[in-house]
Amino acid sequence: MNPLEQPVLVAPPYRLRPFTAADVPVVQEASSDPPIPAITTVPASGSRQAALAFIERQHQRLVDGTGYSFAIADSSSDQAVGQIGLWLKNLSQGRASIGYWVAPSHRGKGAASSALGALAAWGLAQPGIHRLELYVEPWNEGSWRAAERSGFVREGTMRSWLEIGGQRKDMYMYSRLPAR
Ligand SMILES: CC(C)(COP(=O)(O)OP(=O)(O)OC[C@H]1O[C@@H](n2cnc3c(N)ncnc32)[C@H](O)[C@@H]1OP(=O)(O)O)[C@@H](O)C(=O)NCCC(=O)NCCS
Repeated sequence: MNPLEQPVLVAPPYRLRPFTAADVPVVQEASSDPPIPAITTVPASGSRQAALAFIERQHQRLVDGTGYSFAIADSSSDQAVGQIGLWLKNLSQGRASIGYWVAPSHRGKGAASSALGALAAWGLAQPGIHRLELYVEPWNEGSWRAAERSGFVREGTMRSWLEIGGQRKDMYMYSRLPAR
C-alpha cells in the first residue's frame, strides 16, 4: 500500500474524497452532536479554527501512514455530509478498522451505509488487508444496521473494550472478510 495516494471512491449517491477547507460547516455541525466528539477527534468547540485544524489532521493521517480519512460528499453538490476513515494501526497483522460519522441533518438517507460499503470493498482489495473491523456500542442501532447492510457480521460483545466519556464501554465487534 502507498498511503501517500488517496483515491476518490464512488459510493452512489455519494463519493468519498479528501477533506477541503470548504468542509468546515460539516465539521462544526458534527461538533454540536456530543457523541461525535466523544468517540472521534472532531473538536467539541465548534470554532472555525478548530474545524480547520481537524481537517488538517485528516490530511496528516495519509502522510504519517495512520490511514485514509475521507469526507462523505453528495456526488451532485459535493457538499460534505460526514466522515469515514480506514485505519491501519494493525496492518502488520493484516487487519484494518473503519470509523465513521454523519452530521445530524444528513442522517437517515443511507450516507453511512453507502460510504461503508464502498470503503470496505476498496479496503479489502488493498494488498495486506485480510480483515476489516468495526466496533459499535450496543445502543447504536443506526451504526450496527449500517454495518450489517454493508456486509459486516457481528462476532460478539467485547466487554469493557473502550473508555468513552470516563466510563468503560462494551462494544459489538463486527468484521468483514474478502468474498471467497
Ligand atoms: C450511526 C450513523 C453513522 C448512521 O448514519 P446514517 O447515514 O444515518 O445511516 P444510514 O442512513 O445509512 O442508516 C443505516 C441503517 O440504520 C437505520 N438507522 C439509522 N439511524 C437509526 C437510529 N437512530 N435508530 C435505529 N435505526 C437507525 C436506517 O434505517 C438504516 O437501516 P436499514 O439498513 O435497515 O434500512 C449516524 O447516526 C452517526 O453519525 N451517529 C453518531 C456517530 C456514530 O455513532 N458513529 C458510528 C460509531 S460506531
